Amino acid sequence: MAFLANSLTLVLLCLTPQVLGQTGFDWGSIPGSDNLTWVDCYSPPTQCSRLNAPMNYSNPSAGSFSLALIRIPSTLSGTANYRGPVIFNPGGQGGSGVEGILELGSQLAQVIGPEFDLVGFDPRGVANSSPRFSFFKSDAERAAFDFGPHATDPTAAPNVLPSQWANFQALGRLAKDRDTAGVLAHVSTDNVARDMLRIVEAHGGTKLRYWGISYGSILGATFAAMFPEKVERLIIDGVFDMEGYYAADWSNEVIDTDKVLKAFFVECHKAGPTACAFYASSPTAIARNLDALYQKVLTQPVPAYSPDLPKYGFVDHPTLKNAVMAAFYQPYSTFSTLAQGLAALRDGDGSIIYQLSFPQGSEAVLAIACGYAAKVTDDAAKLQKYTKSIEKVSSFSSIVAGIRVLCSGWQVHPDNFKGPIKGVTSFPLLIIGNTADPVTPLAGAKKTAKQFPGSVVLTQDGLGHTSFASPSPCTIAHVQAYFQNGTLPAVDTVCPVAATLFPLPSNNSTQPRRDVRQEMKWDEIAVDLRDAYGRVARRGFY
Ligand SMILES: *[C@@H]1O[C@H](CO)[C@@H](O)[C@H](O)[C@H]1NC(C)=O
Ligand SMILES: *[C@@H]1O[C@H](CO)[C@@H](O)[C@H](O)[C@H]1NC(C)=O
Ligand SMILES: *[C@@H]1O[C@H](CO)[C@@H](O)[C@H](O)[C@H]1NC(C)=O
Ligand SMILES: *[C@@H]1O[C@H](CO)[C@@H](O)[C@H](O)[C@H]1NC(C)=O
Ligand SMILES: *[C@@H]1O[C@H](CO)[C@@H](O)[C@H](O)[C@H]1NC(C)=O
Repeated sequence: MAFLANSLTLVLLCLTPQVLGQTGFDWGSIPGSDNLTWVDCYSPPTQCSRLNAPMNYSNPSAGSFSLALIRIPSTLSGTANYRGPVIFNPGGQGGSGVEGILELGSQLAQVIGPEFDLVGFDPRGVANSSPRFSFFKSDAERAAFDFGPHATDPTAAPNVLPSQWANFQALGRLAKDRDTAGVLAHVSTDNVARDMLRIVEAHGGTKLRYWGISYGSILGATFAAMFPEKVERLIIDGVFDMEGYYAADWSNEVIDTDKVLKAFFVECHKAGPTACAFYASSPTAIARNLDALYQKVLTQPVPAYSPDLPKYGFVDHPTLKNAVMAAFYQPYSTFSTLAQGLAALRDGDGSIIYQLSFPQGSEAVLAIACGYAAKVTDDAAKLQKYTKSIEKVSSFSSIVAGIRVLCSGWQVHPDNFKGPIKGVTSFPLLIIGNTADPVTPLAGAKKTAKQFPGSVVLTQDGLGHTSFASPSPCTIAHVQAYFQNGTLPAVDTVCPVAATLFPLPSNNSTQPRRDVRQEMKWDEIAVDLRDAYGRVARRGFY
């Protein structure tokens, strides 16, 4: 029971929205400026600044954004060893870089080393940057709009797609109608890339040092394609199939999802009934039991309520699929909980599974993923055909088909840069992929590497979304060597991970501290980074 309580605490941690970015510092207290003036913010040694950037780089008189920047300054600033900023992007369409640094900054700063400032920023239009785009009039209106699995999974019910299509047509009209300031046309990824160059130049530099994960891979690769001669160091991790992304066709992103599912069956069986609550006599038996659960909730959804848990509702087929997929982001911390949730679901209690499920869409996904990729004009019949056509790619393909359903109603499509994502860069890229990532498969990393001659793919031999999903001292050592010395891993390097998918129940929530020898220190940083990432990763699906 203690174990169950610990796991649920973890789930709650993952799902509690962190509002530091909104409440811990009054961003209004610093004026926007054309240069960087840093002030102390949040808690030491963090510093903040606001940098102006033109809304439209081709028409500087058309207004400006004030970008929220945050940094952990180099401890060698003012010495000969100081080397300038490394910009980090934590992913999520419209994800807050300020929040990313507040959550992950102390670990990331140790990885890159004291020579560098670690810099994050809220992309134009979101979080603490201003003006923000928002097409709901209030948080209550936003909360009332359903971006959940029923609204976005085209296989949620037999004839649900036409109403989903109509729903997102309505939302698309509303968004365009309410964008009276015309902000939506300007928050495209190519403009965010231009903002990164502006941040570099405001530091007095000419070339970018960058580390981006998940959506940050799109931002990084887009920068490299637009400004290939401005790359000093660039790491992308959790790499999308760029062509698919810019075509609003995400089917290539889920080609490894079933590998993670298979690992759940195999490792649950290996772990045994004490460590895996959904254990059965063979991996195949576990798979059959999961199928039986899918069948069960298809005809009889299961109530999800527990007085100790924040969300309540019910678990039906799309919710179950969504929750399983969501657990795949962080298998090393979530597989045990998933197994407990499935066992409870079998017993008529959907509450744990319900906590794991997560909305697929959001305002930011619509504006960014839909607005700046190829325009989707599909009607419901075409979307149905598309959903069918990608059915064989993965048993989770309906989840990405849902992205295209969202996009079908979107109406703001400026003429932004959409690729090709390729180029001959002034320094080779380091491109990181996991052997089984549920939403950004290794193939995305390899395909992107082919477009940037000289770049090297580092494979982390683990499951989950981005290398941050599992601790690997090997990977972070390569990251440090790349930033510090420009050293790329040998071709075909594979880094192992130091984690178990189904750890044995333990009543200790904190691990004993280790020595601070270098090797041990890397271990600790790697584990900390994984845990901190767990808190930010699940706020938006991508
Ligand atoms: C910084 O920018 C402001 C205007 O935004 C200007 O008044 C000030 O002189 C600049 N400072 C430096 C050091 O360039
Ligand atoms: C940006 O400005 C240029 C030049 O005035 C104009 O052609 C273009 O349409 C503008 N872009 C957007 C998205 O408004
Ligand atoms: C960078 O290179 C120096 C000199 O070869 C070496 O001592 C150091 O360990 C390297 N740093 C990293 C992080 O690999
Ligand atoms: C914690 O685990 C130990 C060893 O497994 C056991 O002896 C002890 O009773 C447990 N304590 C609690 C509070 O569950
Ligand atoms: C829990 O932590 C204590 C103190 O570090 C340790 O002595 C004990 O063996 C641990 N128990 C388990 C079950 O890991």
